Amino acid sequence: MPTIKKTCPIKRLITSSAWITASTQITLTTLKMELSTFAALLLATVAVITLFRHLTRPKLNLPPGPKPWPIIGNLNLLAGPLPHRNMHALVQKYGPIMQLKFGSYPVVVGSSVEMAEAVLKTNDVKLADRPKIAAGKYTTYNYSNITWSQYGPYWRQARKICLMEIFSPKRLDQFETVRVQELHALLRKLFVSAGKPINARDNFSDLSLSVISRLVLGKNYTVKDGNQKEYMSPKEFKEMIDELFLLNGVLDIGDSIPWLAFLDLQGYIKRMKAVGQLFDGFLEHTLNEHQQRRKGVKNYVPQDMMDILLQLSDDPNLEVQLDRTAVKAFTMDLIAGGTESSAVTTEWAMAELLKKPEYFKRANEELDRVIGRDRWVEEKDIVNLPFINAICKETMRLHPVSPFLVPRLAREDIQLGGYDIPKGTRVMVNVWTIGRDASIWEKPHEFCPERFIGKSIDVKGHNFELLPFGAGRRMCVGYSLGLKVIQASVANLLHGFKWKLPGDMTTEELNMQEIFGLSTPKQIPLVAELEPRLPAHMYSM
Ligand code: HEM
Repeated sequence: MPTIKKTCPIKRLITSSAWITASTQITLTTLKMELSTFAALLLATVAVITLFRHLTRPKLNLPPGPKPWPIIGNLNLLAGPLPHRNMHALVQKYGPIMQLKFGSYPVVVGSSVEMAEAVLKTNDVKLADRPKIAAGKYTTYNYSNITWSQYGPYWRQARKICLMEIFSPKRLDQFETVRVQELHALLRKLFVSAGKPINARDNFSDLSLSVISRLVLGKNYTVKDGNQKEYMSPKEFKEMIDELFLLNGVLDIGDSIPWLAFLDLQGYIKRMKAVGQLFDGFLEHTLNEHQQRRKGVKNYVPQDMMDILLQLSDDPNLEVQLDRTAVKAFTMDLIAGGTESSAVTTEWAMAELLKKPEYFKRANEELDRVIGRDRWVEEKDIVNLPFINAICKETMRLHPVSPFLVPRLAREDIQLGGYDIPKGTRVMVNVWTIGRDASIWEKPHEFCPERFIGKSIDVKGHNFELLPFGAGRRMCVGYSLGLKVIQASVANLLHGFKWKLPGDMTTEELNMQEIFGLSTPKQIPLVAELEPRLPAHMYSM
């Protein structure tokens, strides 16, 4: 008879739980095996799909270009003080569309009229982003300004504000008095220094900064204000702008090799943060002053561009609300964009004329005929001064302030000149090379203003052979102001004075080298001696 083994319930429980444990272990082991088989299968499938995709993907037809090195890409080819000249040499080898690598980033460079049109017109909207670089992050409120903000409603609204409110013809007319007053102040100062060598660069920079400081902030921060305690001295103000400019033009290693960014090998990030903070303190101070001025005033009429921005920040109907940071960022853009560029261009114009003094005669003949010697040139006269106009255009052809414009970023995959340009590629237009293209310009390296006489080429973004302000959606927002300041300055500097090189300096000795940076100025500041051309009473305006 079978006997039923009687076991104690506790023992039974232990035995059964042990079984459960054992069986669970078996199940887990099986599961683990199944999982690893599954993982292996999954990996294999992914590998096969990737390989298949790789093999079957149509091979990208990328533009030609030099073979990049690991890590640095082609940065070695652009090393040196004049990268735009290195780039020009590369274009001669690889052609009007080429691809380089800045560290790990692909950069496509268009260097012909056709490529400029393909980038700035045909593919304008698809290339309307800007790459995110350190200067935009640390000096302009995390890309909140116009120049570095991404394509989208915020940037679109900023442009609309510029077009409709800040640089509208009506507003530019309203601010003409400021421009005239500051230009006349410079002409008076030059009259006093007649016969002595003057530093043209310093004088033109002071003019630009005074004009922009008054137009944007309503006050000339470049001169001492006797009545008030200053937030910063004119010297500090100028140094702050210079530093902002310099840092917006540098090639920070981290912008090309992002994993090196945290090391800040060149020390630029530290300086960017410092100048960003300094500027912020200054803008906070000016904003408070402006708000104080508007407080309680019914139907307040804006006196300057910051006032206009503040008024708009109260507008509930704006598509994107303008907050305090946006007002500060846009203000900064207007100051930075408007300052160096016109001074640098005016200096180049005078240097080119001093190199070829025969053009002074022709310019003066035009000024005497159209204006006469009993008045100064006004902005409205410029249309009647084709040779002065031609001098300005020729200067901008040979000395574009931004040799590659400001880089754009592909928002989607596109084609340029039959080549594939994948989304995320940085795209630059090489206006420096286009300005020297022998297939467009006769004697391209010579300064010959007369090449523009009788031609309808302008600088407003319609003629892709001459693009000192860019073209398309991202074209310079302040070009109309910049152009007015350059033309009026060049015209009156020629009208008011005879120019010569200092002492016995010959035209051959005049150095015409440039420095690459945000504004590509003359390497050695221009020094000249001036003699008045007009009756003495004309200088006491
Ligand atoms: C001689 C005078 C000037 C020159 C040569 C100049 C040149 C340029 C260039 C080449 C660009 C880039 C265009 C592109 O990427 O296609 C630009 C953009 C810009 N400029 Fe100017 N500029 C001048 C004056 C001004 C003035 C007076 C202001 C404002 C007060 C200004 C504000 C700006 C701004 C905000 C942008 C960025 C536009 C955007 O990204 O949407 N510029 N400028």
